[in-house]
Amino acid sequence: MDAYLAVASKREVRDYAPRSLEAAAERRILEAGRVAGSSKNRQARRFVIVRDERLREEVAASVYAQDHVRAAALVVAVVVGAKGPTAFDAGRAAQNMMLAASNDAIGSCPNGIADAKRLRAALGHGEDESVATVLTFGYPAKARRDPESLTADEWVARADRRPWEEIVTEL
Ligand SMILES: Cc1cc2nc3c(=O)[nH]c(=O)nc-3n(C[C@H](O)[C@H](O)[C@H](O)COP(=O)(O)O)c2cc1C
Repeated sequence: MDAYLAVASKREVRDYAPRSLEAAAERRILEAGRVAGSSKNRQARRFVIVRDERLREEVAASVYAQDHVRAAALVVAVVVGAKGPTAFDAGRAAQNMMLAASNDAIGSCPNGIADAKRLRAALGHGEDESVATVLTFGYPAKARRDPESLTADEWVARADRRPWEEIVTEL
């Protein structure tokens, strides 16, 4: 898929089919995160795949929208260190992973953390780390529109986003 079309057509998917991901697709998702750039190439982030059912339930209970964590084929916590622009770096890695997934027709959604303490207990990360986001991945429950069926400009025009004039200024 054309990179701009991939970016323009990415929409969050929250309803997942009960179907597992191919191992190669899962690997591409994680590699897309691993290869993302970071401040001074510190790579102060790591990705925790939550496979254990009991821990997954704890992770679900720690985020705002719990159902898609329960139903996802793959749940990845993006854990960041304390130093540097870690939120920015985590965002770069997270979006890379979601775009790689989208390229394989796999849906995804980021999740805000509602209960960091509970999440820390589940994942067992140290006090010097925090979870930037929990990403869910899975094939969409409902067939999604083929990204190639619209142009990138049409995808952009259909997106629920604030107008260009509000977002982009020139000085
Ligand atoms: C930092 C962050 C936290 C988010 N948290 C949640 C969340 O807790 N639950 C959820 O369903 N979506 C969450 N989202 C997804 C946003 O709702 C979504 O990106 C936005 O509505 C645009 O969706 P669209 O691309 O499908 O139009 C989050 C996104 C970001 C960037």
